[in-house]
Amino acid sequence: MFSTLKAMPADPILGLLSQYRDDPRGEKIDLGVGVYKDILGNTPILDCVKTAEQRRTATETTKVYIGPAGSSDFNRLIAELAFGEQHPTLSAGRIRSVSTPGGTGALRVAADFIKRCRPGATVWVSDPTWANHTGLFEAAGLKVERYPYYDYTTKALKFDEMLAKLNTLGENDVVLLHACCHNPSGQDLSTEQWDRVVQVAVKRGFTPLIDMAYQGFGDGVEEDAYGVRKMAAAVEDMLLCSSCSKNFGLYRERIGACSIIANSSAAADVALSVLLYVVRCLYSMPPAHGAALVETILGDNQLKQQWLDELKVMRDRINGNRAILVERLKAIGVEQDFSFIARQKGMFSFLGVSPEQVEQLKQEFGIYMVDSSRISIAGISDSNVDYLAKSIAKVLQG
Ligand code: LMR
Repeated sequence: MFSTLKAMPADPILGLLSQYRDDPRGEKIDLGVGVYKDILGNTPILDCVKTAEQRRTATETTKVYIGPAGSSDFNRLIAELAFGEQHPTLSAGRIRSVSTPGGTGALRVAADFIKRCRPGATVWVSDPTWANHTGLFEAAGLKVERYPYYDYTTKALKFDEMLAKLNTLGENDVVLLHACCHNPSGQDLSTEQWDRVVQVAVKRGFTPLIDMAYQGFGDGVEEDAYGVRKMAAAVEDMLLCSSCSKNFGLYRERIGACSIIANSSAAADVALSVLLYVVRCLYSMPPAHGAALVETILGDNQLKQQWLDELKVMRDRINGNRAILVERLKAIGVEQDFSFIARQKGMFSFLGVSPEQVEQLKQEFGIYMVDSSRISIAGISDSNVDYLAKSIAKVLQG
């Protein structure tokens, strides 16, 4: 049976991890996978996570099955973090959340859930979007289409075109939006643009599915949830997929959440039963450890404040890196305008060079990024930014 298989190409993002590790050069830079790195290039465990972990070890009494929904405390706290404790949909009892294996698990649960709600639905993703989005929805048997989003020439949103496309959609469509820190472009909707997208969603009746993988990495935990909260307050049905990989640094613990908003509490109960069925068929139950850490942190005012402080350090470092790269490129005389990198938000931007130049940066200079020229800003540091800027300059000179 297996002899008919054809090998799949390496994942465009994860494949870079092993290529970088296997590169023997001393001077090399990893701008590939979206993982936070400190000034030394390490991805440390947050102090608040260490404290939570010690508490859990001391107080945990069982490893018995947790159930398909995961921890109810985690589910409540993660919904409050995303929607805000006072959100009208929470008080109306219209939200149900389940813990999932990371944000990717949340997206796959959402995909299977959508397939059950409306088997013929089309999922509309931004052009471009995270490389794994299309595969995830297609794996659930859904059709995937793209709406205009990023203009590679002007390094800005194609907002009018995006809105024009959304204005043609309807009840059979699901529109995937990035809550903040758009992956891969770093180009987010402004609050005014969110307001207009919300108006179109209400008018056209499509279902928004918001992917929030970077809450707190853009402008702040509250600020980054603007679109999620505004949309949730306006529409009847919506899905939210959130991840604790980046903002809690819990990458390998695989913890995220899938939340659904229905138009009444009774409808939300029915939707939850379908969600739980989907989970049971996919992986039965989510891992518990990451959720236990997040609920310990969010459920304790002091630990939560510590987490917010540590998150701010990560956010400020990334924003600082953006400014430093732009400044260094200018300082060494690169004429091309890279100021857009400082305007964009979150972990990623497109450098805006060709696939051949991406390859040259890898082969000649040991600088790794996704073929699209997406760079993970956290991989930049004081010690490598000069080398990075000079290498980019050389490649641009041809
Ligand atoms: C990324 O886009 O680099 C991250 O979301 C990691 C991943 O799984 O692709």
